[in-house]
Amino acid sequence: MREVRRMEAGGGGWKPVVHVTRLIPEPGPVLLAEIFDLAGDLENRNPTREELAQGLRAADAVVCTLRERFDQALIAEAGPRLRVLSNMAVGYDNIDVAAATARGILVTNTPGVLTETTADLTWALILAASRRVVEGDRMVRAGEFHGWTPTMLLGRDVHGKTLGIVGMGSIGRAVARRAGGFDMRVLYTRRSGPLGPGEVPSGALWEYRDELRELIRESDFVSLHVPLSEATRHLLGPREFAAMRSGAVLVNTSRGPVVDEPALVGALRDGPLSAAGLDVYENEPQLTPGLARLPNVVLLPHLGSASIETRGRMAELAARNAIAAVLGRPVPHPVNPEVLRR
Ligand code: GLV
Repeated sequence: MREVRRMEAGGGGWKPVVHVTRLIPEPGPVLLAEIFDLAGDLENRNPTREELAQGLRAADAVVCTLRERFDQALIAEAGPRLRVLSNMAVGYDNIDVAAATARGILVTNTPGVLTETTADLTWALILAASRRVVEGDRMVRAGEFHGWTPTMLLGRDVHGKTLGIVGMGSIGRAVARRAGGFDMRVLYTRRSGPLGPGEVPSGALWEYRDELRELIRESDFVSLHVPLSEATRHLLGPREFAAMRSGAVLVNTSRGPVVDEPALVGALRDGPLSAAGLDVYENEPQLTPGLARLPNVVLLPHLGSASIETRGRMAELAARNAIAAVLGRPVPHPVNPEVLRR
């Protein structure tokens, strides 16, 4: 901290070092460069474990993404200077937060700025999966569209149906708000119980369900919005799929391991699901055998927050978290704020 004060006072030309694990959008790099010397090659490639270890050993801050896994053994490589692991994502299941806390390393994330963008993509999947948008596109490109027929590629209506939202945090709520435009009934589960009256938009029909199983039984669409933790790993498995409505559609824009993917393949092949839209995978980027051969699943390469505007805002927030942590200023989004109180 003493060196930081000297730097802020403009003395000595000393700059802290930030290791950026891969290429991130502007204004992330330009903001970081105002305060830090940049290490890491800012390339669009996967860093090796040794490169990550080197970053942890030598830097004051590491800016990383959900692609890099910081487990306990890797975090043990951190040098005495390292103050912060700034994750450019809202989810931080890629970081062993307990190990970071034990070493006095702050972990930060980027909530808020990606909420609406991720909700938009969730709706892209709801519509694409239920109305067979991708199958239709493939048919046209293959030269197999020989004119309209009354029975071709019939999907399922979205409007007027019941949408079950699992996890009613900010993204779940943004998805629910959009359901109003489709005259849908919304059911939801939420770890901390029903939303308060001020948290539900006026006129919205959002009904809390205490049990996941109840929600599943009543929903035509099930959309997942929970963080990945030991409590949510395989939240949907064979028993939950068996309880789903015949013709139900599952959408997952949260984290892949929330779903038992082999069980999902079975439920898509043999019922009761009519379709699914997935943005995330249990062993991302690998797919469970058989999944990509099913016509009734729309598969996206983890695009939830992938808009130009939002990725810029995420990179900016990741930079601001790292800068604040190293300068000893209030940190916008600490995950383990207890580290700051020590
Ligand atoms: C994306 O998946 C994120 O967690 O930000």
